[in-house]
Amino acid sequence: MSILTTSAARHDSAETSSRAQERHEPAAAGFAVQIDDLFFAWPRNREFALDIGQLTLEPGERVFVHGPSGCGKSTLLNLLAGVLSPKRGSIRVLGSDIARMSSVARDRFRADHIGMIFQQFNLIPYLSIIDNVLIACWFSQRRRARATQGVASVQAEAQRLLTRLDLAPTLWRRRPIELSIGQQQRVALARALIGRPEIVIADEPTAALDDRRQQAFLKLLDEECRVAGASLIYVSHYRNLALAFDREIDLEALNRAHMH
Ligand SMILES: Nc1ncnc2c1ncn2[C@@H]1O[C@H](COP(=O)(O)OP(=O)(O)O)[C@@H](O)[C@H]1O
Ligand SMILES: [Mg+2]
Repeated sequence: MSILTTSAARHDSAETSSRAQERHEPAAAGFAVQIDDLFFAWPRNREFALDIGQLTLEPGERVFVHGPSGCGKSTLLNLLAGVLSPKRGSIRVLGSDIARMSSVARDRFRADHIGMIFQQFNLIPYLSIIDNVLIACWFSQRRRARATQGVASVQAEAQRLLTRLDLAPTLWRRRPIELSIGQQQRVALARALIGRPEIVIADEPTAALDDRRQQAFLKLLDEECRVAGASLIYVSHYRNLALAFDREIDLEALNRAHMH
């Protein structure tokens, strides 16, 4: 809790620089994502490298990235989110090269513009459902501001999203462990969507679900990204999910470093 409080406080004191960063807002015609000549390798792993010549994503485009386990899907998403840094090349997200930002600027950029859904959801066990959604706004003044457009408060927006995702008020004060996997997944979705980030990144969030529930979740994710106008990058090793997307990318084929 103290880590969160400290970060939130640091964040508030830096709101002026956040406003300055609004200059990095994308032009309407710009790409949501633009990768050029990207090379990444792990320090102590010679078995794997990611080498991508070019990859672009239009604003609002929904892309499905597939490939077998271990082919680098999570690595690519972590590069896009600025969690990992490339050895070479540029990764422009909404016009800003995240590979060239300081780590503080990168953390802020991620909080402001990217909603992430992880395979294990990464909900905070000791926070209530509603706080697990609100946490996305604790680190970003921009997302707080966008979340409260047209509603009374950021809490009201979290409640609206949870209701829309069929999570009833009786669940809002519960802890994640008291919810089913399908419900936890929708909490993770609400957290990714609150404050309308331009980009939503999903790392195999349906892997633990059966086919029917996978499809239902994908439909919901797709609808909500459309409503929010967000670009969606969804990775999975299940190739049969691709039908719901604008574009399908085979990461093994895209990766120039791929070794058989
Ligand atoms: N922290 C790490 N250090 C070294 N190698 C790693 C690390 N994390 C992942 N890898 C390796 O990078 C490759 C790609 O992993 P990953 O991106 O997780 O694949 P995917 O998400 O497609 O299953 C794998 O060979 C994996 O073993
Ligand atoms: Mg993975």
